[in-house]
Amino acid sequence: VDVHVSLLGRADLAGEIYRQLRAAIIEGRLRAGDPLPPTRELARRLSVSRGTVAVAYDRLSGEGYVTTRIGAGTFVSDGAARRAPAAAAAEGVLRARPIWAGIPVSAVFAAPARYDFRTGLPDASRFPFPTWRRLMALELRASAVGRGEYGDPAGHPALRSAIARHLGVSRGVVTTPERVTVTNGTQQAFDLIARVLLAPGDRVAVEDPGYAPARRLFQSLGLEVIGVPVDDHGLVVDALPAQARLVYVTPSHQYPLGSAMSLPRRMALLDWANRHDAAIIEDDYDSEFRYGGRPIEPLCTLDVDGRVLFVGSFSKVMLPTLRVGFVIAPPALCGALRTAKYVADWHTTLPTQAALARFIDEGHLARHIHKMRVVYQQRHNRITEALRGPLSAHLAAIASAAGLHVSATARTVSAEEMNAVAQRALAAGVAVQPLSTFRITQPFRAGLALGYGAIETDDIDEGLLRLARVFQTRGGALTSSIADPISRPCAPMSNW
Ligand SMILES: Cc1ncc(COP(=O)(O)O)c(C=O)c1O
Repeated sequence: VDVHVSLLGRADLAGEIYRQLRAAIIEGRLRAGDPLPPTRELARRLSVSRGTVAVAYDRLSGEGYVTTRIGAGTFVSDGAARRAPAAAAAEGVLRARPIWAGIPVSAVFAAPARYDFRTGLPDASRFPFPTWRRLMALELRASAVGRGEYGDPAGHPALRSAIARHLGVSRGVVTTPERVTVTNGTQQAFDLIARVLLAPGDRVAVEDPGYAPARRLFQSLGLEVIGVPVDDHGLVVDALPAQARLVYVTPSHQYPLGSAMSLPRRMALLDWANRHDAAIIEDDYDSEFRYGGRPIEPLCTLDVDGRVLFVGSFSKVMLPTLRVGFVIAPPALCGALRTAKYVADWHTTLPTQAALARFIDEGHLARHIHKMRVVYQQRHNRITEALRGPLSAHLAAIASAAGLHVSATARTVSAEEMNAVAQRALAAGVAVQPLSTFRITQPFRAGLALGYGAIETDDIDEGLLRLARVFQTRGGALTSSIADPISRPCAPMSNW
């Protein structure tokens, strides 16, 4: 067998010969019983000393890949073939637990459509990059990095303080830095909370329709996830399963419907949690952006028993790519959350934390939120006007005065037809999400979620006009007037 071995560098020649022959055996190019070239011959071919080849052969022999028969030569051993079945060589023999195959990865990073109404995305183009760059550069100086030691898993002290102060001003949440745990986005906050409070098999109640990444995470931890219906007042507390140990809610701006949880419902939820000894995650992901109406008090400010874990994110007020979020927990849980963060990934990246602390302390965050609130309010108004105007025959807006998206229920089409409308809209360059993609088990709700973080204000009218035309032409073929030649192909919206 003329096995191919080539040496490019001059370092560790014996190691390189060993690795290439071993790979040839594992990948099945050399099979049990095949002879290796005599050491003298291979040494000549590779212009190395015979001793170098002998070292490689000794190592292969020591690990059982080859057997040397005195006077006959060196042969691939039987055991080696069994150790490396050829069929598995390409993919490896290990298989992930089946649960991972059932979890679709969010399509938010699919190629955007020309008119992008996807939810959950802020307007990155208006982010104050020069300021952020300056603050990050400060934190990347040798003097700021110091000895480069690991930091406190609970978070950079300056950021914990800044978050506590910021929440007091922006959300009326009175807290202390000690109660803040900094996380990699809200997603990690959910992970830490679930691991701190629950064991596999425990029940978690989530809103249905709701935010899929949270429930997928709970499922991946072996928790039993139960979807609980949502009505105009928020999660239907009477429908909560008695054994739920944790309830996940978005009270300020239900995701995806957009309504706020009413005060009586908030009180009922807290009361339920008390009676059932359960914890509540309050996901306050985008409520810094409010466009009128009375500010809604966070659930955690009504919580006298310490059952609410308030989770926030910088993904909407800044950028999702920063991956910074936090959890404000009752004091008794802070130690365990800190330890959970430590075992998860030690801590969130320190230069980013320190830069963010300055960003907040120097007033840049408040200014950015203020600026973006004006921009988003215009977009919110444009969409709600269109829903009252050209789209009113097809969609009815769900009242909402906060956040980065508006949802609407369908007047004329079924949930199944709405999926087709969304597909056809995509072909016309308009990305929208059918509400049915957020459901778990509750009956399909025919409707759409319209995000306005990623679409320019001036593009909204044209995008919604195209959407209205899609509704009008449903059932027929797309007319050339709405087929968008510049829209790129885009994966269908998955459930997130
Ligand atoms: C309901 C909800 N919670 C939280 C988030 C933010 O998640 P993260 O902080 O992990 O980026 C989003 C983003 O879309 C969301 O829609």
